[in-house]
Amino acid sequence: MDFASKIRDVVDFPKPGIVFKDITPLLQDPRAFQTAVDVIADRHVGSKLDAIVAVESRGFIIGSALAYKLGCSLVVVRKAGKLPAKTISTRYALEYGEDELHIHEDALQPGQKVLIADDLLATGGTVRATGQLIRQLGATPVEAVFLVELNGLGGRELVNDIPCFSLMSFD
Ligand code: PRP
Ligand code: ADE
Repeated sequence: MDFASKIRDVVDFPKPGIVFKDITPLLQDPRAFQTAVDVIADRHVGSKLDAIVAVESRGFIIGSALAYKLGCSLVVVRKAGKLPAKTISTRYALEYGEDELHIHEDALQPGQKVLIADDLLATGGTVRATGQLIRQLGATPVEAVFLVELNGLGGRELVNDIPCFSLMSFD
């Protein structure tokens, strides 16, 4: 499956100088989306995962499909002010700014093994922050999975304590 042909480049979005990798053409192609989810899920069939931790907002798309397919619980990591109950949080840098991520403090239990799901790995700030939140709750991220990886932004190096798998990568 030629997944890369389903990713659209949008120049100067959301800021001048950024080439935005738009995943919506892939999502709109039922066979491409289904195959993408299957390829990622197949890596973890039979492994004893407790939860998929999906990162707002594009991570929810792939994360919820993986949780359904693998029969795991779905835990959401959200931006500030979105989760209703008590949270723990961390600030982090992105390719185009800075943000804050939260997780409900009772979303994971000590000793649980989880998979982080997001659409894209760029600088790695989002996934590193997500890994920190997971570890603060005593759980362990066994892998982080992505549809797209942008090479040359140091994402994999920044997230060096979590193995990363991406369906496709771009220079
Ligand atoms: C995007 C993307 C990843 C993150 C990757 O999210 O969905 O979560 O950036 O960048 P990084 O590797 O440099 O951290 P964004 O915060 O733009 O939110 P969105 O999914 O709501 O658009
Ligand atoms: N998240 C961070 N950098 C991105 C990019 N270039 N395209 C899409 N999502 C992103």
